[in-house]
Amino acid sequence: MPRGLFITLEGLDGSGKTTQLRRLAAWLKKRSPAADPVVTRQPGGTEAGDRIRALVLDSSQAGLAPMTEMALMFADRAQAVAEVIQPALDQGKIILCDRFTDSTEAYQGGGRELGSEPVLALHRLLCGDLKPDLTLLLLPSLEVSLERARRRNQRTAEQDGADESRFEAEQDAFYRRVWQKYREIALREPARVVLIEGDLDLDEVHEKIAAAVAALLKRHGYNG
Ligand code: TYD
Repeated sequence: MPRGLFITLEGLDGSGKTTQLRRLAAWLKKRSPAADPVVTRQPGGTEAGDRIRALVLDSSQAGLAPMTEMALMFADRAQAVAEVIQPALDQGKIILCDRFTDSTEAYQGGGRELGSEPVLALHRLLCGDLKPDLTLLLLPSLEVSLERARRRNQRTAEQDGADESRFEAEQDAFYRRVWQKYREIALREPARVVLIEGDLDLDEVHEKIAAAVAALLKRHGYNG
């Protein structure tokens, strides 16, 4: 059985990533009904991971040291790789993952200024250096991303009282560093990372994503 395909979506809070992931999953199901993609997210996606997610995204945990934050992200990821991602790949499935190690490099490496090296070293050590086959990086302008993140976060808090506002409460300078680190990753790994820039509408972004995934499927001999 051929190894499956591992596709990740990345971008700042408010980049529209989660909506695009849903659309991509629907597109894939229509194109290749047998594909039955596995959809997951980080942090979260496992029982242990959901608990880590609650801890790390709760704004009352603002005292978390950057190193603790990075370690928790990798604790979550190591579990997700072992429990969800690697088994699905071994079964030949397509996995769509909302955030992966690029998020840690951008947020903890860039945003929290820990640098790329410790992130990449932990990835080798704890995640077997597992690389996505394709990463779709949504990077609208910083201003647009920030505005969307603030609006969304306000709505979430009003609707269900969930408190995931810790990252959104960061200063613009933090997000600027995250944004820059994401661009750096895209420039460093152009074969893996498809950079979708500019303030495009939902359909335009979806079309770019579908085109990149269609090319990947073709390269790997998926005919639907
Ligand atoms: P989430 O609700 O998934 O945000 P979004 O819908 O924008 O993806 O929250 C994830 C938050 O966690 C987001 O602010 C980015 C942050 N994060 C890190 O800082 N490092 C990481 O390794 C990961 C996976 C996420």
